[in-house]
Amino acid sequence: MSTVLIISGSPSSTARPGVVATLVATALTAAGHSADLLAVRDLPTVALLAEDRAEPAISAALSAVESADGLVVVSPVYRAAYSGLVKSLLDLLPTGALVGKAVLPLATGGSQGHLVALDFVLRPLLFAMGATKVLPGHFVPDRMIEEPGTGTGAVLAPARKALEDALVPFQDALRKASALTA
Ligand SMILES: Cc1cc2nc3c(=O)[nH]c(=O)nc-3n(C[C@H](O)[C@H](O)[C@H](O)COP(=O)(O)O)c2cc1C
Repeated sequence: MSTVLIISGSPSSTARPGVVATLVATALTAAGHSADLLAVRDLPTVALLAEDRAEPAISAALSAVESADGLVVVSPVYRAAYSGLVKSLLDLLPTGALVGKAVLPLATGGSQGHLVALDFVLRPLLFAMGATKVLPGHFVPDRMIEEPGTGTGAVLAPARKALEDALVPFQDALRKASALTA
């Protein structure tokens, strides 16, 4: 069993990235992994922005990253890039924190044209942090995600299948990452 941390970088509790993160957690759990969700918006804002790594919730979040075999980073596309919340958390990680971990970048966005943000912005950020195993990113367009409303939205069938398919190579990489640390 591998341990996966799913980081959701939306400022809204009812946003589409949260729907995607929940679906990924459910699928990975069903596949026998331990999957935890970390919504960056739930971390104490001042401590996050002041890079107070000793603050208990921040410290717990960093420990969760450290102990995970794999990370799924789910960001909304904001201005053709990742959200500030994603960057705020990643900026707290020490150099080399992602080495050896399987990392899957996911994004939601209003414009299909901006799926390039995954390959040209989010993946390079992860590589710049020293990640050695970044899987191809996957984009879920807004129109394929039911309005979350109460936080219980759903990913529509074709996009759901595509997202589940994106989890297959991620799980292969996870197995290899876990084998190396076992
Ligand atoms: C400030 C802001 C900037 C955005 N910029 C883009 C963009 O450049 N490209 C895009 O496809 N969608 C963009 N969107 C739409 C969001 O990426 C999209 O609706 C997302 O799935 C919703 O995430 P959220 O509710 O967490 O903001 C933007 C939304 C906001 C609020």
